[in-house]
Amino acid sequence: MKIFLDTSNLAMINTWLQTGLIDGITTNPSTLSKEGGDPKKLVLAICAALGSRDVSIEVTKQSAQDVYKQALEIAALAPNVVVKVPCHPTYFPVIQRLVKEGVAVNVTLVFSLLQGMMMSKLGVRYISPFVGRLDDIDVDGSELLCEMRSMIDHYEFDTQILAASIRHVRHFHDAVSFGADVVTLPVEVLEKATQHPLTEQGIAKFNADWHKLGITQFP
Ligand code: G3P
Repeated sequence: MKIFLDTSNLAMINTWLQTGLIDGITTNPSTLSKEGGDPKKLVLAICAALGSRDVSIEVTKQSAQDVYKQALEIAALAPNVVVKVPCHPTYFPVIQRLVKEGVAVNVTLVFSLLQGMMMSKLGVRYISPFVGRLDDIDVDGSELLCEMRSMIDHYEFDTQILAASIRHVRHFHDAVSFGADVVTLPVEVLEKATQHPLTEQGIAKFNADWHKLGITQFP
């Protein structure tokens, strides 16, 4: 299981890189816009901080021709860039061309098993099912992860499932339980997932019992 951070905030990225838990970053036009400033400069800094680990950067153009051109420009920014392209039929010819030309592609805004199957047929590196946004419309997003796992394993596709739009720890749990290859997490969800009240209580109890010994030097 690979853990990506779903943020464009460089300070947070650098903080969490220290834990050794982070295998990549996903950004999107919304998270880049939230940081303000020059997005190209920020993207280059994030890619440098990640070293060889994947950084997903999304296209922002609309027409197929413009998306193809922009995708190549984004891919050229750094060797660890993965280009994010929305799962829309307008871009299917672009996606297959990018894959054929060796560009790493993360197909985003995936909401159905059939979308995921078609993109896996094209050989993209990642498909990003948006679990939280499906839950928002009362569709079981975690169930889609389970179906996608079976589909990819059955047809022996190489595409990786990148569980995205993770709203809470339960989604993270389901992504692990249903065998997603990658989960991309907002910082607040990852923070919550690292904590457990019984661990806190256990540490306090051990400390209190140790304190009774009155030993200051150990070992
Ligand atoms: O970055 C892609 C995805 O994780 C966005 O999630 O919360 O905007 O639905 P969200």
